[in-house]
Amino acid sequence: MYLVVLFAAALSASTFALDNGLMRTPPMGWLAWERFRCDIDCEHDPKNCISENLFIDMADRLSEDGWRELGYVLVSIDDCWSSMERDEEGRLQPDPKRFPGGIPKLARYMHDRGLKLGIYGDMGTHTCGGYPGTPLDKIKIDAQTFADWGVDVLKFDGCYSNSTEQEQGYPLMSKALNATGRPIGYSCSWPAYQGGLPPKVNYTQLGLICNLWRNYGDIQDSWDSVLNIVDWFFENQDVVAPAAGPGGWNDPDMLIVGDFGLSMDQSRSQMALWAIMAAPLFMSNDLRTISSGARSILQNQMAISINQDPMGIQGRRIVKENSGIDVFLRPLSNNASALVFFSRRKDMPYRYQTSLRKLNYPTGSYKIFNVFTEKTMMLKDSTDFVVSVNPTGVVMWYVSAPAKMNLHQFYRGARLRGSPYDEKDENNIPQLI
Ligand SMILES: *[C@@H]1O[C@H](CO)[C@@H](O)[C@H](O)[C@H]1NC(C)=O
Ligand SMILES: *[C@@H]1O[C@H](CO)[C@@H](O)[C@H](O)[C@H]1NC(C)=O
Ligand SMILES: *[C@@H]1O[C@H](CO)[C@@H](O)[C@H](O)[C@H]1NC(C)=O
Repeated sequence: MYLVVLFAAALSASTFALDNGLMRTPPMGWLAWERFRCDIDCEHDPKNCISENLFIDMADRLSEDGWRELGYVLVSIDDCWSSMERDEEGRLQPDPKRFPGGIPKLARYMHDRGLKLGIYGDMGTHTCGGYPGTPLDKIKIDAQTFADWGVDVLKFDGCYSNSTEQEQGYPLMSKALNATGRPIGYSCSWPAYQGGLPPKVNYTQLGLICNLWRNYGDIQDSWDSVLNIVDWFFENQDVVAPAAGPGGWNDPDMLIVGDFGLSMDQSRSQMALWAIMAAPLFMSNDLRTISSGARSILQNQMAISINQDPMGIQGRRIVKENSGIDVFLRPLSNNASALVFFSRRKDMPYRYQTSLRKLNYPTGSYKIFNVFTEKTMMLKDSTDFVVSVNPTGVVMWYVSAPAKMNLHQFYRGARLRGSPYDEKDENNIPQLI
């Protein structure tokens, strides 16, 4: 019965979110790391090195190729942007050769185009790439520097710090950002360094100090990596899903759609499951050369609007079949929901038969919109249907409920089947008011 828990938790979570008014829906944009890493060789690889040109190129693509209008507005610098030395006043500074115009120039470039600029720091002596970090005694000055530059989001990594320092540093940076008076979105890598689970990780506290947080390891450009992340998030959904809500999001890491590791089916799977998870949509790809297939997946308006649903309830896995089919459900505004049928199989398209009633939808006639084929149909709860799910692919539906359907009843009715959580949840059914 965990959908009930989820709903109740989401209502309370929004009351306890970080109070900076930002990221009421999951942030969207582009982040350099997975695709461009720490390529600083501008002499030999000028188009791909971490430099102001790369971020300007991506800003141009976001604003000219239809991304910005869909919500992809954040352009984020990751590691390896800074000089190895702080300046005479002890402030971080960008590498002068690769960022000759300085960070304020980039921030203005973004703002002039209706975009935002994100930057990267590290709560430790060094960044993961070996650049100057932000140890405890530098937190205030670095927060102020980022604010002075006009930065909109800070990703705060955790290399080269221990758990005691992190316990102090992550809340301290939250306070320091607030004290600058500039609203700056705050992405905390803290839980990823503490295993992502209680008791080491306190999700209530994270929601109070951060706008998003990386729970788990870095994504790599492969299907194995996507599947590993998906499994971690849904195996631990009882812990992580209730933490999400307007102003505070679990971050399973970047979208690698448009890179080298995923087939088109796997790309749709990543997009669909990131939408179910209410995950930040940070693409890490080359928008200058992206294929039209990858682009149309990332620009799918219904997948985006499911991801951006204003209630901000993170969806869950509701069925895990021995056949290798998983079903995921996310409750949405207007009594609607999103369903994803996902196949772990490697052989051939699998014909999965079920009904909305078997998925515990209440009696009624539902309008189904297939997110990737854009076909619609009406479906009674009692009608058995078959979805053909490609190997490592998905079928994704937006399900409109009949008018006046009672949302609470819907959540109360949604039950697990074949899930390891079944028993536990049956014994722990909270009552909705
Ligand atoms: C963490 O590092 C600090 C030095 O910055 C040290 O004093 C402290 O003992 C370390 N704590 C742990 C738990 O390793
Ligand atoms: C700082 O925190 C206060 C209280 O939580 C909040 O009202 C204010 O909007 C915050 N300011 C910024 C810039 O984040
Ligand atoms: C988690 O953090 C919240 C908010 O800071 C706090 O009230 C609560 O006691 C913490 N829980 C644990 C188990 O430490």
